[in-house]
Amino acid sequence: MTSLRALLAAFLSGYPFLSLAVPGPPTADPCAKIAGRVFVPPADALACYKSFPFNETIRQNVLTNVARVFDFFTFENYYLNSPPPFQESTANIRASLSKLSKAEFQTDYDFHRALYDFTTQLNDGHTRYFPNCYTIFQNLLPAPAISLEVNGVQSLYIAPDSVEFFSLLGTEYTGYFDSINFNWKRLAGAKILQVEGMDPYAYVDLIAKTVSGNYLDHGIRVNSVFTSYRISAADFSQRLGDFAGPVDVSKSFLTLRLITVNSTKAETVKIPFLANYFGEDFTDKDSYWANNCAADDATNGIDIRSQSSSARSIKKQPKADVIDLSDSKGVGLPEQFHPTAPPTAGSDDVIKSYILPGNKTGVMFVGSFSPRNFGRFQSDTVAAITAFKAAGVSQLLIDLTNNGGPASYIVFLKESDPYPCPSGGYVCLGQFLHQYLAGSQIGYPGFQSTQRGNLLARKVVAAHVAMGDDDVSTFYSPANWAFLNGTIFPNTYNYDEPVSPLVVNGQFDPTSQRFHDTCEFSFSQPIPETPPFDLSKVAIVSNGNCASTCAMFSTLMNERHGTKIAVFGGKPSEQMEFKGMAGNQVLEWFDLDTEIKSVGLKDDPLAPPDLIVNSNFRHNWRTAWSFLDESKPIGVLSLDLL
Ligand SMILES: *[C@@H]1O[C@H](CO)[C@@H](O)[C@H](O)[C@H]1NC(C)=O
Ligand SMILES: *[C@@H]1O[C@H](CO)[C@@H](O)[C@H](O)[C@H]1NC(C)=O
Ligand SMILES: *[C@@H]1O[C@H](CO)[C@@H](O)[C@H](O)[C@H]1NC(C)=O
Ligand SMILES: *[C@@H]1O[C@H](CO)[C@@H](O)[C@H](O)[C@H]1NC(C)=O
Repeated sequence: MTSLRALLAAFLSGYPFLSLAVPGPPTADPCAKIAGRVFVPPADALACYKSFPFNETIRQNVLTNVARVFDFFTFENYYLNSPPPFQESTANIRASLSKLSKAEFQTDYDFHRALYDFTTQLNDGHTRYFPNCYTIFQNLLPAPAISLEVNGVQSLYIAPDSVEFFSLLGTEYTGYFDSINFNWKRLAGAKILQVEGMDPYAYVDLIAKTVSGNYLDHGIRVNSVFTSYRISAADFSQRLGDFAGPVDVSKSFLTLRLITVNSTKAETVKIPFLANYFGEDFTDKDSYWANNCAADDATNGIDIRSQSSSARSIKKQPKADVIDLSDSKGVGLPEQFHPTAPPTAGSDDVIKSYILPGNKTGVMFVGSFSPRNFGRFQSDTVAAITAFKAAGVSQLLIDLTNNGGPASYIVFLKESDPYPCPSGGYVCLGQFLHQYLAGSQIGYPGFQSTQRGNLLARKVVAAHVAMGDDDVSTFYSPANWAFLNGTIFPNTYNYDEPVSPLVVNGQFDPTSQRFHDTCEFSFSQPIPETPPFDLSKVAIVSNGNCASTCAMFSTLMNERHGTKIAVFGGKPSEQMEFKGMAGNQVLEWFDLDTEIKSVGLKDDPLAPPDLIVNSNFRHNWRTAWSFLDESKPIGVLSLDLL
C-alpha cells in the first residue's frame, strides 16, 4: 500500500519513474524483524540470511583460503576414488572448487551454503567449512525420528519421549505451536508411513547423504539422522538428530503420513519447524553482519612469537574431534530416562560408570574424550576401574554411543555458550584409556602417524628446525613427535626431509616420515603393568557415531586386542561400521594459520590468506596408519577387511 501510494505520489508530482525505483521506499530489514528473538519461523531466518548480496571479493578470498588449506588435507587424493563401502564420498576436490569459483550465486548465503554442502558431503568431520554467518540457526521439528522394532518389524517412528523432551524447551518454544493451534503432542510415538511423499527410510537415506556429514560410512550417518542419547558436557542429553534438528533453515515444514498411537487411521500432517538462534546479539542487518559474519579477532591465527615467552612454550594437546554446531547446556535427557543404577566414583564429568546387578559387569559410558579437565578424565578412569575391582566386577562394557557425535543433537538457550563445543576430543586421552586398559607392557599406545609433505609444510618444518632452541611449540615443532622407537625428535630434526613417497589413486602425494605421538608424557596417572581386566572380557558398544579420538580408541582396541564391538541402530538389514573416521588430528583454520604465522611464512605465496569473513575451514592434518596393515589409514580399512 505504502509503496503504491508513494509511486503514485511521485508519478503525480512529475518525478521520473526510474529515479524512484532505485532507492525505493524503505524496505523492511528482514534481520531487524527477527532481532532479539530466540525462536523464529525458519522462513524469517532465511530472509535475513539471504539479505546479503553475493560478493565476488568474499568468494575469491574464501576459495583461495580453502584451496590452500586443502593442500594440507591428508585424504585429498583418497577422495578421487573412495574405497568400498565408502563410494558415496568420492569427490574431485579441485574440480569442485573450480566449479564453485565460476558458478553464479544470487546471495552471499547461496555461495557459502554451496561450499558448506560440498565439504559436509566429503563426510569427514575433520574437514569442513563452517561459515558462522549462516550456521547459527538450528531448525527444530517437534517430531524427532527413530527406527524401532515392533512385533519383529522395524519401522520409522516419532520418538515416543517427544512430549517429555520438547517440554524441556519451555514455553518460548512450545508456545509458538499453541499460538498456531498445532497439536504436536499427539504425534509422539506415531508410526511414520511417508516423509515428503517418500518411503521413510529413503528419506532417511537422503538426509544421511546430504545433511549429516562427519562420517565416511553411510550406515553411521543413518544413525545421525535419528534421535539418540548422549553425554554432553557432564550431563545426559538427547540428540535431536538430523531429521528433526538440522542446522539449516531452508525447510519450513515437513510433511508426514503417519498413524498416531492408538489410531488405525493414516493421516497426512504438515509439521512446522521453528528455528532456534544461537548467534551474537544484533538489532538489524548491519549489526547481524558485523557481529556474526565479519572476521573477528578469533577468525585468523596469530604469530605466537609476538606473545609472552610463557605463551610461546605452552604445549597444546592435539585434538581429533568433530564440531557439534548445536551442542549446548540448554536441554538434557528427561530425568525419567536416566540410568537407574547408582553411578560409581569418577562419574561427575564425561565418564559415567555403573555396576550392573550381580556385580559381574561394569559399564563405562565414555561420553567424549573432551572433558573439562585433561587430568580429570584420567583420574575418573582410575576411580571407575578401582570401584569395579572393589565390587568384584570381572567384565567391562564400554559405551561409546555418540562419543564425538555430529551436529544437531539439540538446542540452545540464548544464554548458553555461543561457541560450539568440540566433541570427540584429545588424542592423548584415547591413548590413555587404551593404555590403561591394556597395561604398560603393550608399549606405544597409538598409531604411526604422518602429515602431508606439501611444499609449504616442508618450509614450515624447515623453519622450526632453523629456530632450534628458540623454537615455538606449535604442532609442526619436531619436539612434539617421536621416532618409532619412542625417542622424542631433537628440535633440529627435520622429519620432512626426505619426504616419504606415497601414491594414492595414481597421484604422487609425498608425506612426512612416520612418527609416533608422545602422549605417554602427558599421562598423569600411573599405568598398570598388566590389564586390570582380562582383555577378552572387555567389549565396546555404540551407535557408530564414534568420531575422531573415539574412532582411534575403538580401532586400537579392535586391531590390537581383538575387542568385540557391537553397533546398534541403523536401518533394517544395513551393514554398519563401528567407527566412521580415519583422521589422527584436526587443525582448525586458526591453528593452521598460527602454525604458518609463527614461523614467519605468512608472506609465502602458498600461504592461505586471512579470511575476511567469520568462518572456519578445519581439516584433517594427520593420518593414523593401521596397525594391521601399515599401508592403510585406519578409517579407510573397512571392518570387513580386518
Ligand atoms: C564485498 O565485501 C567486502 C568485504 O566485506 C567489502 O569490503 C566490499 O565493499 C564488498 N563489495 C561490495 C560490492 O559490496
Ligand atoms: C493408548 O491407549 C492406551 C491403552 O488404552 C493408553 O494407556 C494410552 O495412554 C493411550 N495413548 C495415547 C497417546 O493415547
Ligand atoms: C557388589 O558391590 C558392592 C560394592 O560396590 C557391595 O556393597 C555389594 O555387597 C556387592 N554385591 C555382591 C552381590 O557381591
Ligand atoms: C631411536 O631412533 C633414532 C633414529 O633412528 C636414533 O637416533 C635413536 O638413538 C634411537 N633411540 C634409542 C633409544 O634407541
